[in-house]
Amino acid sequence: MRTYCTVAVLLMLAGPSAHARQSADAAPQHHLMPVPASVRIEAGRLPLDKSFAVAVTRHRDARLLRGIERALRRLQARTGIEFSHEIKKDAATAKLAIEVAGPGEAVQSIAEDESYSLNVTAQQATLKAPTVVGALRGLETFLQLVARDAAGSFLPLAEITDKPRFPWRGLLIDVCRHWQPVEVIKRNLDALAAVKLNVFHWHLSEDQGFRVESRRYPKLHELGSDGLYYTQAQIREVVAYARDRGIRVVPEFDVPGHATTWFVGYPRYASAGGPYAIVREFGIFDGTFNPTREEVYRFLDGFIGEMAALFPDAYWHIGGDEVNNKQWNASRAIAAFKKRRGLKDNAALQAYFNQRLSRILSKHGKRMVGWDEILHADLPKNTVVQSWRGQKSLSEGARQGFNGILSAGYYLDAMETSAFHYAVDPLPAANGLDAAQAGRILGGEVCMWGELITPENIDSRIWPRTAAIAERLWSMREVADVDDMHRRLDVVSLQLEELGLTHLSGPDTMLRRLAGTEDIEPLRALLRLVEPLSLGQRMRARRATQLTPLTSLGDIACPDAPARRELAALVAAFLRTAPRDPASGEALAREFRAWVELGRSLAAMAERAPLLRDAEGLAADLAELGAAGQEALTFLSEGKTSPKEWTASKLALLDRAAAHKGFLRLAVVSSLRQLIVAAGSSGSAGRSLEPRGHSPDGP
Ligand code: ACM
Repeated sequence: MRTYCTVAVLLMLAGPSAHARQSADAAPQHHLMPVPASVRIEAGRLPLDKSFAVAVTRHRDARLLRGIERALRRLQARTGIEFSHEIKKDAATAKLAIEVAGPGEAVQSIAEDESYSLNVTAQQATLKAPTVVGALRGLETFLQLVARDAAGSFLPLAEITDKPRFPWRGLLIDVCRHWQPVEVIKRNLDALAAVKLNVFHWHLSEDQGFRVESRRYPKLHELGSDGLYYTQAQIREVVAYARDRGIRVVPEFDVPGHATTWFVGYPRYASAGGPYAIVREFGIFDGTFNPTREEVYRFLDGFIGEMAALFPDAYWHIGGDEVNNKQWNASRAIAAFKKRRGLKDNAALQAYFNQRLSRILSKHGKRMVGWDEILHADLPKNTVVQSWRGQKSLSEGARQGFNGILSAGYYLDAMETSAFHYAVDPLPAANGLDAAQAGRILGGEVCMWGELITPENIDSRIWPRTAAIAERLWSMREVADVDDMHRRLDVVSLQLEELGLTHLSGPDTMLRRLAGTEDIEPLRALLRLVEPLSLGQRMRARRATQLTPLTSLGDIACPDAPARRELAALVAAFLRTAPRDPASGEALAREFRAWVELGRSLAAMAERAPLLRDAEGLAADLAELGAAGQEALTFLSEGKTSPKEWTASKLALLDRAAAHKGFLRLAVVSSLRQLIVAAGSSGSAGRSLEPRGHSPDGP
């Protein structure tokens, strides 16, 4: 059950965002993300000072102690206080007493108990958990509770009991289309733990790269990776790093399609002769395993056997998506095999392949996970179906008896807003499933596909949006207030930087290279207003390959541009009142004047830096939009209706401005449209016009 805080407390938070601040008379708020199952915040505080010390009173093991040490370092960095790192055994002298019943599972499973309780009084915080993983989750909540004001750092008094809604809460990172070194993976694992996600889905083989060292079949990584692969020692290191943070690692080796790099070294296992080369383009390619040959299964058995020793998780992802069937259709031998076996089509052939694979996985102690294309009644019921093409396959699978995880709606490369993703629920209230079927929905996974990411910009695609999805997967379904999510997301976003994430700092570094100067203020101002294109839009605008530099403004701009929300809120406040609210009117006027100025300075910058050409069209649009915005404000403030021709010409301008320029689209067009439409509505001065909420400006 969720309880709301009842007593006003003042939580002054670090950071520049207005969203992150609240005044003493505002409704009582915490800034925990994900919101715990039950949370009560009381007036009063537990001060944090030099006397701060931690005690572990029951179960104590190395993983728990390492987790506490990491938390202490973050607490010190944030508070600037130096305190003892000695972990006491006696709770009486500790400010944080931790009581853990036992270590939890030797290999974390979906049944691991992640629950905890955290009680903060004016004397002491007490964290209790049945397992070390539960304690790790509670430590993250403890760190999120830390607040500060003029008197110093403190924890508000709190009573929290918490556990996740779904047992499977993951992030997929595709390290194949673009290589991501171990340090990128590690900092993202830190971030997953910070928002209580518990699965790292490691997409390790693709047409564009085979990223794991295989000692049994060394031509896989030697010929399939451009030398960019994880050694077995690195795999062990990452798996151990993840376990230390209560995160399971599920490897994906995509078969039978998306498989070209298997065949660069081992062409004989494909359905058509080679040679094969690492693919530099993105899309769907022909290289497909030959399901009719016994040696293919011996090979996969050998490979899975080798990898099973590296990846202790009970689940193994076989991919199974987007088989284009070209090689299967072209082969007379495969046609004859299908006929002999009574396999009526290629779907049946793939189901045959999957069943063989499932038996091999079983032999190695693994259960199969695959994309929704694998859904087939004959698969063992412990197979997990990952829905990416829509939510329907999730419920269909559940009805057939399969466990499922949702990824449709969680594709970060769609460059949607946090609000969009936040609204996607693996198990919405009206789900049409009975209790047993609903119980098969294990959770969801965010997907970070690799076409347009590098170590430089990957964090800004994943974070902070993934924190909003993490809340959807951990917290109760009823935790759905978008404004409140935004308020807390701004705080979490800053905290993620503590862990080395570069989602906030990275864009500036990239802008300086692009502009060739430290004076990047106009570009930063532009990035407040624009968003990158979705993968599909970007590829249609100009095809990228694995070799394309990903350093343009479109690779730097972040989804969920700050001005989208800020402008929407100002427009809503301005239009809500009659006479018009002068404060929001003045703020809007300042914004529109700034756009006109920005248009001029960007145009001047683009003349000096050819790579900024993408900004030229936007600069011209912004200058015009700023002028139109100011005129609309004048009509509205004076209670006048704009002439029809004016409205028509400004709406046409908005349509032009809504089209993307380069790899960017303006995130503020729909808010401006509201103003212009309002200015043209007779008697508009007194009308309330709610914002349309989140509505992507782009096509
Ligand atoms: C997928 O996006 N092809 C799983």
